[in-house]
Parts: sequence; C-alpha cells; structure tokens
Amino acid sequence: MSRQSVKRRAFVQQAVATSVVGFSAASYGKVPGANDRVRLGIIGPGARGQELMRAFLEAPNAEWVAAADVYTRRHDEARKIAPAIKSFNDHRKMLEMKDLDAVIVATPLHCHARHFLDTLAAGKDLFCEKTMTWSIEEAEACLAAAKKNSNRVIGVGQQHNSAGHFNDAHRWVREGLVGKVTSVESWMSRNTPKGKGQWLRPIPEDCNARNVDWKAFLNGRSDRPFDANKFINWRLYWEFSGGNVTENMVHQIGWIIGALDLGVPTAAYMSGGVFAEKDGREVPDTISAILDYPNDLTVSWQSTFSNSRFGLGIRILGSDGTIEWLAGTTDMVSGNSASGWNYQPEKINRPNGEAIKGDAKGDNHFANFVECVRSRKEPNSSVELGYRSAIAAHMANLSYRRKQRVTLESARQVATK
Ligand SMILES: NC(=O)c1ccc[n+]([C@@H]2O[C@H](COP(=O)([O-])OP(=O)(O)OC[C@H]3O[C@@H](n4cnc5c(N)ncnc54)[C@H](O)[C@@H]3O)[C@@H](O)[C@H]2O)c1
Repeated sequence: MSRQSVKRRAFVQQAVATSVVGFSAASYGKVPGANDRVRLGIIGPGARGQELMRAFLEAPNAEWVAAADVYTRRHDEARKIAPAIKSFNDHRKMLEMKDLDAVIVATPLHCHARHFLDTLAAGKDLFCEKTMTWSIEEAEACLAAAKKNSNRVIGVGQQHNSAGHFNDAHRWVREGLVGKVTSVESWMSRNTPKGKGQWLRPIPEDCNARNVDWKAFLNGRSDRPFDANKFINWRLYWEFSGGNVTENMVHQIGWIIGALDLGVPTAAYMSGGVFAEKDGREVPDTISAILDYPNDLTVSWQSTFSNSRFGLGIRILGSDGTIEWLAGTTDMVSGNSASGWNYQPEKINRPNGEAIKGDAKGDNHFANFVECVRSRKEPNSSVELGYRSAIAAHMANLSYRRKQRVTLESARQVATK
C-alpha cells in the first residue's frame, strides 16, 4: 500500500473517530413534526452555499438558523441572505446547537466526508452537496455511517434526479419502452473565453491568513503556508477536487443510475487532459470516460471546456426505443437549439410504438428534502444514489490518473500517486 493510501485511510479513520467522540446525545436535534418549521444550518456558505440558502428559503416552512464557515467574509454574505443566523468559524460548534434540525454541506469536495460524518454523529439530518465524497474510501465510510444512523434523513445535491425529465425517463424504462439497454451516451460541453480558464475565480482582497482558518480548510492535507489561490480555486487541484467528473459527470451519471436502476460500475476507463487552458490546473478540461456496468451495458461521458455547441445531453439506447434528454444542444444542420426530452420507438422491435414528448413536472429538489425531514421519507436523491455516483466518478478519475482500466477492487487496493 502506498504512503498516500495509508494517509487517506488514516484520514477516514480520524474523521470517523472525531465524529464518534465529538458530540453528546444532548446535542441531538428532535424530529420536527408535520407542521413544524425545519431549522437549517449550513457548513460552507460559499458560491453554491449561498445559492442553496436562497433556494431553501423557498421551501415551505423552512428557516435558516446558523452558518459555519472558515472564512469571515462568508459570515457577512450569509447574514445578508438570512440576517438572524448564528455564525460559527468551527462547524462542530454549530452542530452542538439543539435548535437545529438539518445541516446543508456545501464545502469543497475534500471536506464533504468530514462534515457528513460529523453531522450524522451530532444527530442532525443532512443534505450533502455532490459529489458526496472526495474518495472511494470516504464514500464507503459515509454510506456505512448512514446505515448505522438509518433514522436520519440524508439527501444529496443531485437535483437532476428531481426533475421532470428524470421522472419521465424513469417511468418509460419501468414501463419497458426501451427494451434491453446496452449503451448510454452522455456529454457536457462549455466554452470559455480565451485566457480565462473555466472555474477560475478572482481572489477577494480580504482573503488572507487572518480571515481564513487555513488549517481547517486543509482538513488533514499536508500543512503549508496560506495559499489564497488554492483556497479560492480549490476545484483545479486533485488534493481538493475531482475536476469536472465530480463537478458535472456526477449529475449525469446519477441521472442514468437512477433511470436505469444501476449499481456501481464493473470497470472504468478515462482519457483526456488539460488541453484548453494550461493555467497550472491539474484536473482535465477535456474528458472521454467509459463506465462498464453488469449485464451488458456501457455508459460513455464526454466533456469539453472549449466548445459549447452541443450543450449537454443523455441518450439511453435500447433495443425497443431511445430516451433522449437534451439541454442547450444545437442542431448541426438547422442551427436550432434543442432542449427537452422525448422517447422514440425502435420500429423493428416495437412496430406499433409511438413517439412521446416528455412533459412531467418534477419536484423542487430542496423542498423535497425539507418535506422529507418532516415526513422521514427518503429524499429523491438518496445517500445510496450519492454513493453509487461517487464510486463511478472516482473510478473514472482513478483510471485517468493511473492511465489504466480500473475496477472497484483495483481502485480500493492501489492508491493514486
Ligand atoms: N449541485 C450543484 O449543482 C452544485 C453547483 C455548484 C457547486 N456544487 C458543489 O458545492 C460545493 C461547494 O462549491 P462552491 O463553488 O460553492 O465552493 P466555494 O469555494 O465557493 O465555497 C465553499 C465554502 O466552504 C468554506 N469552507 C472551506 N473549508 C471549510 C471547512 N473546513 N469548514 C467550513 N467551511 C469551509 C469556504 O470558505 C467557502 O465559503 C462543491 O462540492 C461543489 O461541487 C454543487
């Protein structure tokens, strides 16, 4: 086992241990009744966190009571959205609050597992942004903790699995309209202005070692002097991120997993590189990933940051029909932009099949979570979905980093350098 692997294992063990000893039963929240307000706290009200704060305010009968962040600036920004919240530098202090029902985790990827485990150990319900964890080991530790705390409601930030296109696709598959599915193709593409790499964020003037708890951000990564670029642009570096696979593939693979009821892949292959903007980033901006699933299925996902013409899409290719979901895709010939979803029969196997245009409404993903906190039902995007999506994402990234085919077993055994 490599040193990196040992270090990571130690991190997971440490995170689990912290979670177990950190909280007393007295800090456990009570379960809100059917009409009670759900009191929310957030860990990491940064860019996504603030979007979530606004989005959850629209859920009926939910309120923000607390926010924890290692950067002082975020306390002020969070208070602009919810002026009455209590602010904390250390999330563990926030988790001691008794009048807190559910915690939203929107920290950088490498902190998710710690915040996930600490939240469950504190007896709170949990909504964890995608990707659920930074590594396979962490995903396994989080799933195990979720099973141990099965009385807790846990949702993940994979909102596409609440959408109308998901509901229709899932129903069409269940109704047998696609037949045997052997292939799924999916893609996600964006363009970026030349010289300004995707995701690159400016560093605020007050982003310095006085205003940031750098050690808490590092979360067990090797200690070093404060680095404002790494703190703000963590997405570009493997230590903290999984690149576009954990940013965007995870949404689409989660949708495919949900629609087809898939488990974890049997193998992953991934190619690509930093081709668009060579600005010091480590994570690839151009990706071709293939995931093999049991029972004769292969799923591909392609992504580029230097051409946006075909937006994003998924095609489920079955012997009896095709399900297509497109967003912002431009037709090659007409130049028209297509958005929407539909089913097309394969006439050779379903001669009487009819084309169907999708029109399901879908749920508000955030209201769904809040409602589940009250009803104790499983949210649309469950911890199991988060786990399976995370495993697929990490297997793909490991294949890219190792330049070889990766199975779950080989992913578990040998660590990345
Ligand atoms: N579901 C979606 O569509 C969607 C969209 C965007 C981002 N996200 C996810 O949201 C997460 C956050 O992304 P972002 O762009 O908001 O990042 P960000 O850097 O803007 O925000 C992260 C926040 O966490 C804080 N933080 C860092 N370490 C912390 C710690 N140890 N304890 C407490 N706070 C800490 C930072 O100060 C910052 O305010 C990522 O996992 C990302 O993948 C999801």
